[in-house]
Amino acid sequence: MGRKIWIFDTTLRDGEQSPGASMNADEKLKIAAQLLRLNVDIIEAGFPVSSPGDFESTVRIAELVGDKAVVTALSRAVDRDIDVAAEALANAKRPRIHTGLGVSPQHLVHKLRISEEEAIDLAVHAVKHARNLVDDVQFYAEDAGRSSYEFLARICEATIAAGASTINIPDTTGFNMPDEFGARIKYLMEHVAGIENVTVAVHCHNDLGMATALALEGVRNGATQVECTINGLGERAGNTALEEVVMAIKLHGEELDAYTDIVAKELTRTSKLVANVSGIYVQPNKAIVGSNAFRHSSGIHQDGVIKDPSTYEIITPESVGATDSAILLTARSGKAAVAHKIEEMGYTLDEEAFNAVFNAFIELADKKKEVYDEDLEALVEEFSRSVDSAYKLKSIQVSTGYPLTPTATLCLVDREGEEHIACVYGTGPIDAAFKAVNEIIQAEHELIEFSINSITRGIDALGEAALKIRSASGKIYTGRGADGDIIVSSTRAYLNALNHLVSDL
Ligand code: KIV
Ligand code: ZN
Repeated sequence: MGRKIWIFDTTLRDGEQSPGASMNADEKLKIAAQLLRLNVDIIEAGFPVSSPGDFESTVRIAELVGDKAVVTALSRAVDRDIDVAAEALANAKRPRIHTGLGVSPQHLVHKLRISEEEAIDLAVHAVKHARNLVDDVQFYAEDAGRSSYEFLARICEATIAAGASTINIPDTTGFNMPDEFGARIKYLMEHVAGIENVTVAVHCHNDLGMATALALEGVRNGATQVECTINGLGERAGNTALEEVVMAIKLHGEELDAYTDIVAKELTRTSKLVANVSGIYVQPNKAIVGSNAFRHSSGIHQDGVIKDPSTYEIITPESVGATDSAILLTARSGKAAVAHKIEEMGYTLDEEAFNAVFNAFIELADKKKEVYDEDLEALVEEFSRSVDSAYKLKSIQVSTGYPLTPTATLCLVDREGEEHIACVYGTGPIDAAFKAVNEIIQAEHELIEFSINSITRGIDALGEAALKIRSASGKIYTGRGADGDIIVSSTRAYLNALNHLVSDL
């Protein structure tokens, strides 16, 4: 079986640092619940001192997770950060404080402006301070990939002696070649006193597209914890993708002397959820979870796969939960079939949310002969979030064309059943529709991201709009909408985000 490799998921912390990926506490909770189904060992819930939102989500994730996984919170090597992290983890059953500082010349000289000796003192102080608050402390040596071997070994040894139970060696800038990173881990394994009593973790970024290779070389040379994110989200070019490292260990476990406890069948579902929630879509050719990962296009390949899938598939789609989107649901599918499908996709809806999704499904199935899993998933994402909306879309009519001035006539219904109508022109049909919404819901905000994607194939495919707005207080709200008409899906997405904003006012 080999060595157990602890999978440390940092989608909710480093992943959320991806530009445009910020998530609110409810969204993070949804992802945390799915990470538990995936059976990750450690969930990095956030960086509590960085914002009240991060603090709140860490508290709630710790409560949700219970003893099913370790919950960790990030801090700099600063007493206040560590105190706030401990406070956020107060109700965690298995709390871990993750603290550390930069160790490369670039970080010591330019960022921290301290000597190596001062860095060791700060690191030791931080670990001891954290150990006074929790039993499980992880030290990170930021930018270890560009530090000197000798200094890295000294700071690791000092923090182990101070009480750290995990030593995290990040290639923060993704600078190393895989063999070089592996040699760095090997050096530490051979030169750091006490390292045999702690867990050695690797945390690799993807700046040269080698994050997964770096992490695997770390494992080959002694690391037994890999830090990673779903879909490889993370700062800049992202982190090691969880799905890639897990499947590589599955396929090459023997030579790596390693295994993980991840439930691989949950990988596709987790990837989709994270893409939906973060609004960062997965490139089609992404390993393991891209939409093309199991599609064969050329005649030669198709011929091979028909004769035997092993000719071109090293992983079966079923093993990662990528069952092809069969056309199962139609207008004649009853509630039981739709409920079963939703459950199979991993969603748990209360009765009110289910009825909202089912009504939207019937409306869609009347217009579209073939309802795919992805269509239903888009409806679940949109309608299960909007049942308690302050405003619902009753109707929208847009006239547009050349040389017409695009004009939208919109009717929203509030909770009391009162109708609000606005008729507004704009520079384009979507601009007109959004301005009409703004005339009715007057809440200060700016639209910061907006995209429309076709969910499935064919001319009648659903268009899914995803957007983010920023409120006057700086909070970010996401909205999603799916419909055969992109003006309707965009308006629904906008309304979805604004409903969340007004519910916070
Ligand atoms: O990339 C990095 O070094 C980090 C640390 C905070 C662990 O994210
Ligand atoms: Zn990182």
